[in-house]
Parts: sequence; structure tokens; C-alpha cells
Amino acid sequence: MSNRRSLTGITTSGTPHLGNYVGAIKPAITASRDAATESYYFLADYHALVKCGEAARLHQSTLEIAASWLALGLDTETAVFYRQSDIPEIPELTWLLTCMTAKGLMNRSHAYKAAVQANDEAGEDPDFGINMGLFNYPVLMSADILMFNATHVPVGRDQAQHLEMTRDIAQRFNHHYGEHFVLPEAVIDDQVATLPGLDGRKMSKSYDNTIPLWLPEKKLRKQIMRIVTNSQEPGEPKDPDSANVFSIYAAFASEQQRLAMRQAFADGIAWGEVKQQLFELINSELAEPRQRYQDLIANPATIEAELLAGAEKAREYSIPLIRRLRDAVGIRPLA
Ligand code: TRP
Repeated sequence: MSNRRSLTGITTSGTPHLGNYVGAIKPAITASRDAATESYYFLADYHALVKCGEAARLHQSTLEIAASWLALGLDTETAVFYRQSDIPEIPELTWLLTCMTAKGLMNRSHAYKAAVQANDEAGEDPDFGINMGLFNYPVLMSADILMFNATHVPVGRDQAQHLEMTRDIAQRFNHHYGEHFVLPEAVIDDQVATLPGLDGRKMSKSYDNTIPLWLPEKKLRKQIMRIVTNSQEPGEPKDPDSANVFSIYAAFASEQQRLAMRQAFADGIAWGEVKQQLFELINSELAEPRQRYQDLIANPATIEAELLAGAEKAREYSIPLIRRLRDAVGIRPLA
């Protein structure tokens, strides 16, 4: 068995878009094919609950995200793919860790501080709209990671602080109760493209500028035609490096295609033509998985079975570990 274990969670609070695909799903599936690493990927539905109080949306998002990863070729023979809420040891560990976590550490969380500051600026009570889920979020995330003694955690830069906190919490637990946890390392890949959205800002649900991953062909084309460009005419040489549509093209293109497109920009290609080529490129990559996605979505029982099988594999690790941890903290049979 390898001793590199990579683990990451995907919050189930939205519909997957091209930015998720390029920035997270595709690199993770590629990484999962590396035989020297054990890969754990899970749907962080408890985390989704912090921000998403809409039951139907959370449920639908879980379905869509699970179907997306499977349709895009995640091999569940080699990777462990599960749903957080199917692992009851995680909330149990969350409590054990909560009791080893300094409140002051949580007070320093960027996400929490940002919420307090927003209240301040709005003249609200500092606690307005803040639930304990938001405050405890980093402890739950620590439990996700420490439950499987992951050595490496691929995340976006915005999650770096959470990994620092996880290490802090693990260290404190180890110091107090003995060496139970590996200290995980964040893996932050700055090479991975952050995809711009329709308006040129980072593609994000919160900016309402996304291109959903599984649009049917016609709608995909229509959405791509909406990408904002400047008003240069066909025939005018254009600058690829300041063009949003080029950045998106580059994220899907081979080196050769990228160079050819640069040349086409210099030669004055029309915006409409760039977009048509972008559509064809993306569509050729997604056409096959899209069909698999449609088949999966039509058969949620298949997805459910995959997730349950994944949870069973994951629990081969979490059940014995939680037993040892309970014992370590003094929760054990009296006789
Ligand atoms: N907080 C992460 C995010 O918003 C999602 C997540 C939850 C996660 N638990 C995790 C990521 C454990 C890595 C490891 O992106």
C-alpha cells in the first residue's frame, strides 16, 4: 500500500460549471490515476448545510455532482468516492476534535471574520446571520481529513488556512492523547487555471457568470456566444492575452491548438469565429461524458449504490480509527 493518501471534499451546494470542471474535477480525476497515491473524494453535504438551507437544492446538487464525477471517468475501483453523511464516524470525530480546539483559533477563521466584518459594515449585530455551522466549519473539515489520516489535501488557495487549523488541532490532540493523527499537507496548485466567466471575472456561481457543465449542445453554444469581448471588427489583429474567450479556449486546447489560435488572433479572426471554435472544442470534449451523465441522472439508484459502496470502503478505515480514538479519550466499556 502506498503511504501517500490524497483526500478532498466537494461542497454540494450548486450545479457544476466549466470552472469546477477545469479547476477541480478534471485535475482530481487525472491525479486519481496515479497508482502511487490513494485517492479519497467525497461529497461534503454536511458542509453544504452551513450555507444552503434549501433541502431540494442540496439534494439535487449531491445528485448532479456525484453523476458528474462518475460520468467524467472517476474510477471507483481505485479511488474511494463517498458521501460525507454516510460516514457517521465523521460527526463523532468532529465532537472529539471540538473539545480539543481553542475557541480563539476559530475566532481567527477568515470566513468567520469576513462574516462579522460584513455585519459591522452594515451596522448589524456582529453575530447577525451567523450560525454555529459557520463557526465550527474548520473543525468539521479537520474531521474529514483526520478521519482518514490523509497526507495530502488538494484545495484552492482560499482553503489554506483550514489546513493550518487542521494541523493545529491534530497536533493538540496528539500531544494530549498520543500520536493518532498524521499532520496533513495542503496541495495548492497555482498552475491549475482559474477559468474566467462570461464577464471576465472568475467563473463563479456567486457572480452569476457561469457556463454550466452539462448544457445540451444548443444551449452550450448559445452561452458561449454570450462571452463578453471588445468591439474589434473582423480582420483587426486582436490580443489573445487580454481576451477572456482566449483564456477559456486555452484551458481546453492542446499546445498546438493554442498556438494556432494565437496566430488566428494576430490574423484578425472574428470574435464570432473564435467562439464557434471554442464551442466545438468544448463540445467535443464533453459530448461523450454528457451522454453518460444523462444516463446516470436517469438512474439515481446506480449512483446511490456507488456512493454506498464507497462509504463501505471508507469505513474500513474510519471505524477502527474511531474505536481507537474513543478508547484514547476514555470512552470505553466499563468491564
Ligand atoms: N471547504 C472545502 C471547500 O469549500 C470543501 C471541503 C470540505 C474539503 N471538507 C474538506 C476540502 C476536506 C478538502 C478536505 O472547498
